[in-house]
Amino acid sequence: MLLLGQYRSLSLSDLARHNMIEHNASLVHKDDRNGAEYAPCKVNRKLLEALCAEGGKVVPDRMTLEDAAHIRVQREVECGVLDGVHAEIARGEIVIAIGVLGGKDAAKNGVTISALHDWMQHERLPVDWKPDHTQGLYQTYKMAKYVRDRMTEIKAQKPPVESH
Ligand code: HEM
Ligand SMILES: [Mg+2]
Repeated sequence: MLLLGQYRSLSLSDLARHNMIEHNASLVHKDDRNGAEYAPCKVNRKLLEALCAEGGKVVPDRMTLEDAAHIRVQREVECGVLDGVHAEIARGEIVIAIGVLGGKDAAKNGVTISALHDWMQHERLPVDWKPDHTQGLYQTYKMAKYVRDRMTEIKAQKPPVESH
């Protein structure tokens, strides 16, 4: 409610109000068009396929934080400038998805591409998913910081270091 500045009842559609929580350069949603109040909520199939195709580069069949950093750089290049707050929100979203769905070793091993695909396409938890840890604020912060640092390095064309 605070983030949306809407202190009455909220519907899920309200979450898509542009440039509040919602932002441009989303992973599987098109940008807001012509200053519309709400951004598109429908999942874009091409973007989803492109996202999944970027995974598996570090650990087979899994989307890691390293992959996420590459994808975020790519989306920000495709869509143009994203302000710092929304760039951080965007990193947080993919980090929470990798952390929650990927389990307690997700910072290192990522999440299976199929679980991420399910989440993105159907907005549902994978059938056999069970929580195995708390994805707290601190852990999310650390993982998002790794993605942010890697994005800076990728833009400067530096390779990843062995461990993080
Ligand atoms: C288990 C918890 C959650 C996970 C794993 C998750 C994951 C994600 C992911 C991966 C995206 C990016 C979609 C894209 O880039 O196309 C996203 C976007 C978004 N999430 Fe969540 N989310 C969670 C909880 C929430 C909650 C509780 C809210 C609101 C109260 C929320 C609001 C949003 C909004 C408004 C967007 C659209 C932002 C945009 O992409 O422009 N999410 N989320
Ligand atoms: Mg968006």
